[in-house]
Amino acid sequence: MNWFSGNNENKPLLNKAKTNLKNNRTWILRAIFLSILLLGVLYLLFVLFKGEAESNNVIKTTKNPLHISSKATTNDNYLIQCAPRVKCDPNVKYRSINGSCNNLYVPTRGAAKTSFLRLLDANYNDGHYDFRRQTNGSKLPNPRIINIKLFLSREIYRLSENNVLLLPFGQLIAHDISGLPNDVPRTPNDVIIDCCTDDNARKTFAQCQLIVEDPPDDPVYSKHNITCMGVTRSMTSMNYSCPLSPTTFININTQFIDASEVYGSNESISRYLRVMEGGRLKFTTNNNGEMFCPIQKKKQYEPIQLQTSNIQYETGDPDNGNQNLGITAIQTLFLRYHNYLAFQLSALNPYWSDEILYQESRRIVIATIQRIVYNDFLPIIIGQDFQEIYGINEENIYDPTVDPSMAQELSSAAIRVLHTIIPVQFNFMSNEYNIDYSINITDWMANPDLLPIGNNFDKLFKGFLETPGRITQPSYNFFISNYMFSFPKQPAYTGLDLLSIDIARGRDVGLQPYNQVRHLCGRSLANDFDDLVDLIHIKDINTLKELYHSVNDIDLMVGLLLEKLSDGAIVGPTAQCLIADGFYRFKVGDRFFYDVQGQPGSFTPDQLKEIKKITLGHVICATSNVDHVQKDIFKTIDHKSFPTSKMKCGNEFYIDLTYWKEPSHHSDL
Ligand code: HEM
Repeated sequence: MNWFSGNNENKPLLNKAKTNLKNNRTWILRAIFLSILLLGVLYLLFVLFKGEAESNNVIKTTKNPLHISSKATTNDNYLIQCAPRVKCDPNVKYRSINGSCNNLYVPTRGAAKTSFLRLLDANYNDGHYDFRRQTNGSKLPNPRIINIKLFLSREIYRLSENNVLLLPFGQLIAHDISGLPNDVPRTPNDVIIDCCTDDNARKTFAQCQLIVEDPPDDPVYSKHNITCMGVTRSMTSMNYSCPLSPTTFININTQFIDASEVYGSNESISRYLRVMEGGRLKFTTNNNGEMFCPIQKKKQYEPIQLQTSNIQYETGDPDNGNQNLGITAIQTLFLRYHNYLAFQLSALNPYWSDEILYQESRRIVIATIQRIVYNDFLPIIIGQDFQEIYGINEENIYDPTVDPSMAQELSSAAIRVLHTIIPVQFNFMSNEYNIDYSINITDWMANPDLLPIGNNFDKLFKGFLETPGRITQPSYNFFISNYMFSFPKQPAYTGLDLLSIDIARGRDVGLQPYNQVRHLCGRSLANDFDDLVDLIHIKDINTLKELYHSVNDIDLMVGLLLEKLSDGAIVGPTAQCLIADGFYRFKVGDRFFYDVQGQPGSFTPDQLKEIKKITLGHVICATSNVDHVQKDIFKTIDHKSFPTSKMKCGNEFYIDLTYWKEPSHHSDL
């Protein structure tokens, strides 16, 4: 029925015009309505993803020309798609064990079990997981051959002004911020499969793709009929039920400098390591009554290597705590330091609960480690002046828009340049500062049995302080380049080559080649090999030409190792740039960084003053029988030649915790 027909039959034109007008108006109204609806939906989407969208601003662009920005496009995928949603209480005083809620806007940022950050997008042949190929489509050169041709036989024997202590401390920090487990293939009965000897496994297990074939004329392995290194690929986000493309890797440790290796990066490990009384961490004692980490129960299916040792220690870093005597010793040092603090604090505040004693001690341990990193360690690595102009030394500069995550390029390449400082031996030094005996580091890997015997702990630390370290150079020492993890129960001269593994690992995690990363760090892109001459010696460039098809094919690790050192630093400019970037972000992106003020967890000004006095020397004096330490703790000082250059442990190294004493009416704590 036409409701208007009777009234409007004499005015057809007018009616038509009216109807048209009405139709137009309806369409306009509909368009306006739809636009508003669309805008509303867009706004809702914006609000919903705002948190995640903020994480797009991965690295804040600063005005400092030295700073770099991530160019990668996939960094947010893990946080958006797979990271758990976490609710945070902004008033909590202590950092969480797994690092969540440090950033109140993106609570999982920097937390354990989140993805590494990429500075450049992943580089895989298939865009997803297959190893990068050379620009002419051929396979990349064999990492072992690269080592043999470029690095293996060029050891420089000049000694460093830095002592060996720089090594275990550096390794402690490396494992504090980075944990990328190997994806070791196993049978259904949980027995480890050897990718080298099991032909079938090589074909069926993706994990076996990373094995390194030793060339038939290998200068070391060929003599012993060893043809293969069983390196396995890393765990990916798939292992954590998060399929992502390109392949994404998960850092199992918190990405903040927060003593993860002492306390663990998840609640279950951290609780397991606690006595739950007096704030202390679990420990064992040796025959002298000295404190060591708790001893692990033997596991049923241990790799053959571990069966050679009588003990394995439990630490917050289950994968690496027993890797070599140096890392186990420094883990022990910080375990003792925690328990020393817990004891002192409980004497000052007898009413404090186990939890408060644990957390307050932990807070001081973390602050001490951060202070040593930024005051003593980092200036040696990247150079004091560079650190200053990079803006790393500024105080109290927390910025929630800065992403504190570990860069894949840093973890799987740049910081591993410090593998060049691994010496062949550790010295055990007597009270009279004579070398009692020395051990090859590679003979005692995954085997800490020596550490708790007699006074070995003190002797080892004396050795660390007195022995000049290995200078950084374009080679790893011969032993770590051939015999790493060679175990007594295996045939002689088996073992792995750390340098080959480091090159292979870069390919495993899809790092961009050296030229691209060098460019990210401010150099112009090299058009051919000869353009690298600004940073790499012409002799090495010639060998690179023999190994690689094009300048765009060179592995990042290889380029970093060959670069001439930067002024005042022990690494070259590209490693310096990547390390500075990481340590800038680990500090500026950490709400609980020790000098940040105005947070519930901030130290009081008086406490902060005391924290700033504590050095690694204080820690060594408080936790060992070492009687003298040097002020510049990482500089070699020969005690016998310069007895007055070191200071006696005692008043100089006293840790004053008076400012942690609370009036007794706070007994409700
Ligand atoms: C005796 C001393 C050391 C030994 C024997 C050693 C050995 C190793 C080994 C076997 C790996 C695993 C390689 C792989 O499968 O990819 C590794 C990884 C690594 N190393 Fe070292 N290393 C030592 C010292 C250092 C130092 C001083 C640093 C840096 C300051 C460092 C930084 C790293 C880093 C960042 C990783 C990757 C860790 C991860 O994400 O899981 N290492 N090292």
